[in-house]
Amino acid sequence: MITLENICKIYDRGRVEALRGVSLTVSRGDYLSVTGASGSGKTTLMHILGLLDAPTSGRYLLDGEDVSQLPPEERARLRGQAVGFVFQSFRLLQDLTALENAALPLAFQGVPERVRLARARELLEAVGLAGREGHRPKALSGGQQQRVAIARALATGPRLLLADEPTAGLDPEAASGVLALFDRLHKSGHTLILITHDPKAAARAARRASICAGKLKEEPHDQTGQDQLLP
Ligand SMILES: Nc1ncnc2c1ncn2[C@@H]1O[C@H](COP(=O)(O)OP(=O)(O)OP(=O)(O)O)[C@@H](O)[C@H]1O
Ligand SMILES: [Mg+2]
Repeated sequence: MITLENICKIYDRGRVEALRGVSLTVSRGDYLSVTGASGSGKTTLMHILGLLDAPTSGRYLLDGEDVSQLPPEERARLRGQAVGFVFQSFRLLQDLTALENAALPLAFQGVPERVRLARARELLEAVGLAGREGHRPKALSGGQQQRVAIARALATGPRLLLADEPTAGLDPEAASGVLALFDRLHKSGHTLILITHDPKAAARAARRASICAGKLKEEPHDQTGQDQLLP
């Protein structure tokens, strides 16, 4: 589904080489984690994978289409259809209810209100928030807010779900709830990329990569892991 070939990203007129020749393939249904120290290039990689930014050089193929140098409007249009994002800080709109937040990406796509609220209701139920539809973010715990954000990320049925430090602001119990939800999404066929500082969170993913000073390295597959035993 995704092929990155020798992706470089240079900021600040050449003063910062954030990514230095990253190559990666991701197939539909993969669950990949990316760890790395602060400043190693994780968020830069997420921005490129998620079509928020373009690489300075290298090729990015998304389902066979070269999206490396799309004009910004086209990149934004494709992003809206193809990618769901989850951020550390949830980024929910405080004046909207959980249901309205989860439905928001569909409003941008012009989906009728009745349809988008029904879809958002299903998604909130799927992330374990049935009964919380009418609550505003302030009335929800951090873990619940993050699950609303995950429902929102799934609203448009994206091909790829990208999460940048989704558990960093959560207590251990809430974090483990979010990771359990990712496990379920993976099992149901979603394609997930999880960016995290936390080695324990990273270990949940079937594929693990780390990034160091802008270079990405994937760990060999664990042949004895449970993942291999699942159908
Ligand atoms: N817009 C920008 N302009 C200039 N430099 C940038 C920009 N964004 C990131 N950088 C630099 O690129 C490098 C990689 O940054 P990035 O945000 O990708 O790291 P990260 O791995 O996500 O770090 P953290 O774990 O702290 O979130 C850093 O040296 C950073 O200072
Ligand atoms: Mg970052």
